[in-house]
Amino acid sequence: MAKNKNNQAIWSTRISKKTSQIFKKSGSSLNIDKRLYKEDIEASTAHIEMLFKQKIISFKIKAKIIWGLNKIKNEIIKKKFNFNNENEDIHMSIENRLFEIIGDDAGFVHTARSRNDQVITDFKLWLRKATDDLIANLNNTIKIILKKSEDNIYTIMPGFTHLKNAQPISFGHYLLAYVEMFNRDKKRFKNNFESLMENPLGVAALTGTSFNIDRNFTTKKLKFKIPTKNSVDTVADRDFVVDFLYGTSMCAMHISRLAEEFIIWNSDGFRLINLNDKIVTGSSIMPQKKNPDPLEFLRGKTGEAYGNLFSMLTILKGLPLSYFKDLQDDKEIVFRSYDRLKDSIQILNEILKNILINKKRMLELAEHGYITSTDLADYMVKELNYSFRKSYNITSKIVNYCEKKNKKLYELKIEEFQKIEPKIKIEVFKFIDLKNSINSKKSYAGTSFGNIKKMINKYKKEINK
Ligand code: ARG
Repeated sequence: MAKNKNNQAIWSTRISKKTSQIFKKSGSSLNIDKRLYKEDIEASTAHIEMLFKQKIISFKIKAKIIWGLNKIKNEIIKKKFNFNNENEDIHMSIENRLFEIIGDDAGFVHTARSRNDQVITDFKLWLRKATDDLIANLNNTIKIILKKSEDNIYTIMPGFTHLKNAQPISFGHYLLAYVEMFNRDKKRFKNNFESLMENPLGVAALTGTSFNIDRNFTTKKLKFKIPTKNSVDTVADRDFVVDFLYGTSMCAMHISRLAEEFIIWNSDGFRLINLNDKIVTGSSIMPQKKNPDPLEFLRGKTGEAYGNLFSMLTILKGLPLSYFKDLQDDKEIVFRSYDRLKDSIQILNEILKNILINKKRMLELAEHGYITSTDLADYMVKELNYSFRKSYNITSKIVNYCEKKNKKLYELKIEEFQKIEPKIKIEVFKFIDLKNSINSKKSYAGTSFGNIKKMINKYKKEINK
């Protein structure tokens, strides 16, 4: 509970009994929202400058308050600030300390504002930075993937559907799929800026204020784009929080898919990649083990991201307008999601730098499963003028034959092909070659080597946009 210089709660004249101790302890958000101290002081400073410009407070009071706020900021930075849990939150802590430093003039700081608009202003300022930071971290991920992709344009692996060998693909191309996902994550975070750039300050408790404030002034000072347009909605709105949490959930989900993929590829059954010792852990009983724990950690933590999104959605469901204490939880939820995702992206970046690609094994696996059967069918469409369905059927017969003889497609003699389809000619071998198959997929967004190179260049150019 905030107190003025007489060590009284701000509302003690009205509320005569002390708040229940147990509620005071649990209901205080100070330990969580103290992270907002810089934004709180920044927003209060802008508010005070506006009050002065509008002649609502004097120059002397403005100067005193701003001096006091700066002093508080330095105290916090130098870890000399006493975060006293008697205060409900960071806003009350700072106001209370201001009373201690400058005396009763501190009482002017809260003219024409409420904690309701103050909290959202601070929170949006914080989220703008957090969002930029996540985007910067994702840019690192994308750069690392692009480098790996460039090194692996000619690395042949099986592309899977249903985790069964489907068609040969370049590992470089496969990796670029994740660039697309992380680019979409960036876009989702950027989209939220439209809401994050609307300034809540000045709507006060819920109705606006009778003081002649200038919301455009604080909008400019705090680098928002426009003031919010409805005072009630402003106080009640946490859509920008849900959008952020949805963004973090989607990004965590993409990381989790990549993690799962690498776990499978690293398994003894697949052996497509190895993990450097930096990114494995051992077993307490089985001395031979090198386990992909960091990948499993990333996959597991996705649950927390989804949980946080659902916590916030559930808090908002059925909450009437405008402010309720329920909303206080928004900060804890967002901080947890942000911290976790930032760590996860950085762990992922370490992992990406420390995976070893088993190119030989990738190629070996790609030679299984009659993986160029579609190319064989395409050959007949192109060279024999057959319909795709007819070619598909002939190819099925050839695959059945291979299976019976325990041979790969390319191990068949031309006579064996011709026994099933007499018109097949020797060029067929060019079509069913793994490398040729990959390079024939020249349609836009396909896996041909030329396409991959062009895409990598395009991504590189776009990265900082
Ligand atoms: N600690 C509160 C929060 O973060 C501050 C807002 C308090 N407003 C109020 N009317 N009690 O939500």
